[in-house]
Amino acid sequence: MPVPEHDVADLGLAPAGVRRVAWAEHAMPALRAVRSRFAAERPLDGLRVAACMHVTAETANILRTLRAGGAEVALAASNPVSTQDDTAAALVAEDGVAVFARAGMDPDTYDRNLVTVLSTRPHLLLDDGCDLVNIAHDRPDLLADAFGGCEQTTTGVIRLRRMAAEGALRLPMVAVNDTATKRMFDNRYGTGQSTIDGILRATNTMLAGRTLVVAGFGYCGRGLAERARGMGARVVVTEVDPVKALDAVMQGYTVLPMDEAAPAGDVLVTVTGNRDVVRAEHIASLKDGAVLANSGHFDVEIDLPALEALAVEVRRDVRPNADEYVLADGRRVVLLAEGRLVNLGAAEGHPAAVMDMSFAVQALTVAWLAEHRDALAPGVLDVPEAIDTEVARLELGALGVAIDRLTPGQEEYLSSWRA
Ligand code: NAI
Repeated sequence: MPVPEHDVADLGLAPAGVRRVAWAEHAMPALRAVRSRFAAERPLDGLRVAACMHVTAETANILRTLRAGGAEVALAASNPVSTQDDTAAALVAEDGVAVFARAGMDPDTYDRNLVTVLSTRPHLLLDDGCDLVNIAHDRPDLLADAFGGCEQTTTGVIRLRRMAAEGALRLPMVAVNDTATKRMFDNRYGTGQSTIDGILRATNTMLAGRTLVVAGFGYCGRGLAERARGMGARVVVTEVDPVKALDAVMQGYTVLPMDEAAPAGDVLVTVTGNRDVVRAEHIASLKDGAVLANSGHFDVEIDLPALEALAVEVRRDVRPNADEYVLADGRRVVLLAEGRLVNLGAAEGHPAAVMDMSFAVQALTVAWLAEHRDALAPGVLDVPEAIDTEVARLELGALGVAIDRLTPGQEEYLSSWRA
């Protein structure tokens, strides 16, 4: 395969990248099934795809799937920090993807790379945060051949909806973030497990018999609470939404206001999407050695300036990704990953098995866009329900789980009620 034009750190890293990508591939059975189908049916023959995504082994597997379907692919990083240089090298050398990404690149290079992948005059855009779509709208010449795309994150979908409301969005963009498979499995099981993973790697603490406070009982918080309970922790939930709080009560959790939860907690985790959830008065009431972590998107959930102000001494890196703040009376508060996403800062983010579903949905959505390109109008679109269902079926099949199917009589019975 010819090596495409690219800008990666070192092509010599390709063998290590190949091993990393293969390891992730083992955990991605739904995407493997989609790839086999794409290789047979070639639904993307002759199409050019420009992607702006984290350059990781999981991303490599979706891009290889699109290549198997016949697409030419150019990739820029959606975040310089998350780029795996070995994966980038493997994609160029082994899979013929034109990658423009290096770990730790500066913001100018980041922007330039987005323009570079757009200069391939893509038919389809895969975005993660809406930067690619944004830049493409400033340069309409680069959008001349484009007929659609996908957006992968909550923030990106919010930006797209704003563009659509202002009448500025010129493409049909599918919100792959908003599918049942993403919300239910990615946020709940992916964030739940990887948040615990981050806490354990950073502290090596024992969870059994300890009190773990989960602030926010949404998709992520519920997953975290379930996993912590499974490890023997006493889980306390804090909420502001009465329905979510009642749900937590009915599931057997202790629900308390943060004022009461904070002094009880050995580990406190915020995952609300809100700010100042753990404030000065809570920090002042913590036990000696209490651990604070955040898994919400921004590092504003724990009031970090208040923590700094209360501390008489800060001991950095008492363990990797753990800083110790000493309060005036000598009590220690341990902050993980500087209050940023603990599952990314102190662990490896979501397991490949979870990304498998999100990326299988995305690959099938790309094929759906290609098939329906003449029938789509600019705007933010939902993933067709059939794709969600199909990916869940593929995943069940991979797990060796069989389920019943409706008999013709049952289908008729149910549709008579619906009509
Ligand atoms: P969600 O909307 O399902 O849940 C958030 C919950 O927090 C809601 O039930 C809300 O009532 C509650 N809440 C809001 N303010 C609160 C407060 N002051 N005290 C207690 N509870 C409060 O959202 P989801 O999907 O669970 O996401 C939560 C956050 O996690 C978001 O910032 C999201 O971007 C982030 N996230 C992080 C991931 C990761 O890899 N760490 C992955 C996916 C999402």
